Amino acid sequence: MAEIAVVYHSEHHGNTKKLLEGIAADYPIDLFDVKDADIGGLSKYRAVGFASGIYMGSFHESLLDYIKREPKLPKQAFLIYTSGSGNEKYGSGFASTLKGSGVKVLGIYNCRGFDTYGPWKLMGGISKGHPSSEDIKNGVKFLRRILPQGK
Ligand SMILES: Cc1cc2nc3c(=O)[nH]c(=O)nc-3n(C[C@H](O)[C@H](O)[C@H](O)COP(=O)(O)O)c2cc1C
Repeated sequence: MAEIAVVYHSEHHGNTKKLLEGIAADYPIDLFDVKDADIGGLSKYRAVGFASGIYMGSFHESLLDYIKREPKLPKQAFLIYTSGSGNEKYGSGFASTLKGSGVKVLGIYNCRGFDTYGPWKLMGGISKGHPSSEDIKNGVKFLRRILPQGK
């Protein structure tokens, strides 16, 4: 078992899952698809991340539902998301919800993710090639900064 868990939702092109699996190759994290995540299963972790694509401006609602039902959240959390636009503000609503539950939000990491939703499909999509290997490296750096290993 790793010290850090990440509960995620990734449905459009698997972008968020690809990013997380790339990060997990260099920084130990246990990954749980929110569909399969046990309620009560996070209490043994030092910190938890919540990760998602952005759908209509928000993290996927299944993650919000999860934190409402999960009574034993670790006291420290972080957020990771991928979005077509790369907008830096998408994490703030989810972060406020976590803070309202008494959880400290250590940081938010985001990168672009290939997006063929709606009109973008006609143009062949936007943010092609993302998450890239650079995006994955930056994700690893982010985790090493907010949660140094062995400390
Ligand atoms: C239904 C839907 C709505 C989306 N809404 C947004 C949005 O509001 N802003 C944005 O930047 N990207 C938006 N996107 C693009 C996704 O956030 C992006 O492709 C993300 O990387 C998908 O992650 P996933 O492959 O892990 O599901 C949307 C995609 C879909 C399918």
